[in-house]
Amino acid sequence: MPAKKRIILVAGARPNFMKIAPLFKELNKAGHFTITLVHTGQHYDKKLSKVFFDELKIPKPDINLGVGSGSHAQQTAQVLEKFDAVLEKRGAELVIVVGDVNSTIACALAAAKRGIMVAHVEAGLRSFDWTMPEEINRVVTDSVSDFLFCTEESAIENLKKEGVPDERIHFVGNVMIDTLLANKKIAQSKSKILNELFKDQLKADKKNIPDYAVATLHRASNVDEKGQLSQLISALREVSKFLPVIFPIHPRTKNNLERLNISTQGLKVIEPLGYLDFLQLMSNARMVLTDSGGIQEETTALGIPCLTLRENTERPATIAEGTNSLVGTGKVAIIRAAAKILAKGSKAGVKLKAPARLPQFWDGKAAARIVKILCNKFSSKKAR
Ligand code: UD1
Repeated sequence: MPAKKRIILVAGARPNFMKIAPLFKELNKAGHFTITLVHTGQHYDKKLSKVFFDELKIPKPDINLGVGSGSHAQQTAQVLEKFDAVLEKRGAELVIVVGDVNSTIACALAAAKRGIMVAHVEAGLRSFDWTMPEEINRVVTDSVSDFLFCTEESAIENLKKEGVPDERIHFVGNVMIDTLLANKKIAQSKSKILNELFKDQLKADKKNIPDYAVATLHRASNVDEKGQLSQLISALREVSKFLPVIFPIHPRTKNNLERLNISTQGLKVIEPLGYLDFLQLMSNARMVLTDSGGIQEETTALGIPCLTLRENTERPATIAEGTNSLVGTGKVAIIRAAAKILAKGSKAGVKLKAPARLPQFWDGKAAARIVKILCNKFSSKKAR
């Protein structure tokens, strides 16, 4: 029997964890691989990290690099150096990275420099906005990857335009949606978040979930500068005059609101939520206002209207085929877009654009497709 191939699966920040959960499961099931799980420690707060491992039943990482926070250069450099030491000690035939965070680019680069094959899950997405740190991470990670696993057709087009050979590009669907579909019912039965938030209303009538909006903000371009952050918070406060706005707050945003002395009065500010609570909260919302990439995809999969508070998106399928609208970061445009959703009347009619179908392969089987490709194509020879 051939020796098992050694794979290192990497995760570092909150949006990575729901992506590695189905990958770990499928890789394990295949039986051909020895898997080492590495957590870079980019996110370290229990609410941004451990809760996801617990809820999604991801095993405790074999190695935690413990890099923590820092400037982009510091964080990337620390992961690069510490992950390189892991590669030296353990060796590997393949490193799998997901998403577009600093841990993604650093681990991909460390592996490529050692001549170890790299697989990038969620490859090819482009905002074409070079001021976004994630865009730099996406482009560089793709350029050193051997397997480029794509979630949507735009990603394939982008990679082809950049000259990536066809044999490296694989259209597999969305592992984040694998996790969402696997956990939707579990969230419904296990999460107590709606009871906690709307105790009085639900005591009177268990089934009558009130209308509410969910807001999340964490992107540097939206939350680091006073003028922009004030404008966004002011727009959310305006929306909250019409329905409660639940605002689970990212530590970066919380720190900035305190530092810049910006009031969130009127908003229901809560701690960051675990995966199941947030899924349950999104699933029952009248609308979601966000600057997150992943939430644009999750709301599309759930059929919930999403207003993206950014000027661009690297996930155009969520607009063309899903429930997402790009509204920008101006106060008036945000309020108008929210009012448009509210004007649609009863809950049954709230979808801005009910998806005629989900984007292709957002069907819960993306991780299985990835592992099948790795089983078929994986060889210890360099793929390029
Ligand atoms: C990172 C990713 C971003 C992703 C986001 C999801 C990069 C460049 N950015 O942004 O793409 O959408 O994660 O959350 O990789 N902090 C804590 N506790 C933690 C982690 C961070 O309090 O566990 C605070 C620290 O003050 C830190 C700040 O949040 O300085 C920012 O953390 P960082 O990991 O640099 O970036 P995020 O904004 O979380």
